[in-house]
Amino acid sequence: MEGLVCKMIADITLRLDFRSDKLFKVCDVYCLSNKNAMNRDLSDIRNDFVKKELSEEHLSSDAIEQMKDWLNEAIENHEPEPTAMTLCTVSSSGVPSARIVLLKNIDERGNLWFYTNYSSRKGTDLKDNNHAAVNFFWPGLERQLRITGTVEKLAAEISDGYFESRPVDSQASAIASPQSQVVDSRAQLEQWFNEAKQGKMKRPANWGGYRLQASEIEFWQGRAGRLHDRVRYRHEKEEWVRERLAP
Ligand SMILES: Cc1cc2nc3c(=O)[nH]c(=O)nc-3n(C[C@H](O)[C@H](O)[C@H](O)COP(=O)(O)O)c2cc1C
Repeated sequence: MEGLVCKMIADITLRLDFRSDKLFKVCDVYCLSNKNAMNRDLSDIRNDFVKKELSEEHLSSDAIEQMKDWLNEAIENHEPEPTAMTLCTVSSSGVPSARIVLLKNIDERGNLWFYTNYSSRKGTDLKDNNHAAVNFFWPGLERQLRITGTVEKLAAEISDGYFESRPVDSQASAIASPQSQVVDSRAQLEQWFNEAKQGKMKRPANWGGYRLQASEIEFWQGRAGRLHDRVRYRHEKEEWVRERLAP
């Protein structure tokens, strides 16, 4: 209601073409000091992070080992979707784009594997610019893990092997869905899905895996009073250089 009143004041002001800066400022203050259209004051939502701390003496000198430890802890702690990571890509014209994908493996070189459609928006971005970042947030542990690096496609045989291990419906979806393209309707998608299920479950050439090779890994542990712990590892001359960052 208050949000509506606020909008009405702004509308009337515009309609009267009453462009007094002062009045607009009064409207802004009114909006800020009142609940927004969702009837919630978002600025009042805050949690203090108090569960853990991050000290150099307990951290591995190897960023990959540390990353695996944190991932294991997230799984053991029953974090919701512990392997879900926000993947950020950047197009050739510099436009960033983020979405969640699932981590499917960490190989012996510490590369992070995920699977997707190579013709999707992220696939197109990665073809033009193979720099990417992933981000995990494990709220139960009050932890964030940030990884930056470069991405390459996995070998076709690896993608074949993973595709074959997936449930049939997931295979059919991968075959049927022109990921990130505009489609006419849900009904159209379901028709393609049903047609795919009649056919042979073969991995489409434009669906497969990528591996992200990390050049930077940051471990973030929430602390009381927003004085969080941040430790970043940079890969330099075949070694991990560890540094503490200000929160
Ligand atoms: C929990 C979760 C897991 C997901 N896992 C994947 C995944 O592993 N691969 C994938 O292509 N999309 C996955 N998605 C869907 C993507 O977030 C996204 O909608 C899709 O990949 C299209 O992204 P794009 O248009 O930016 O390329 C997942 C979404 C969620 C919420």
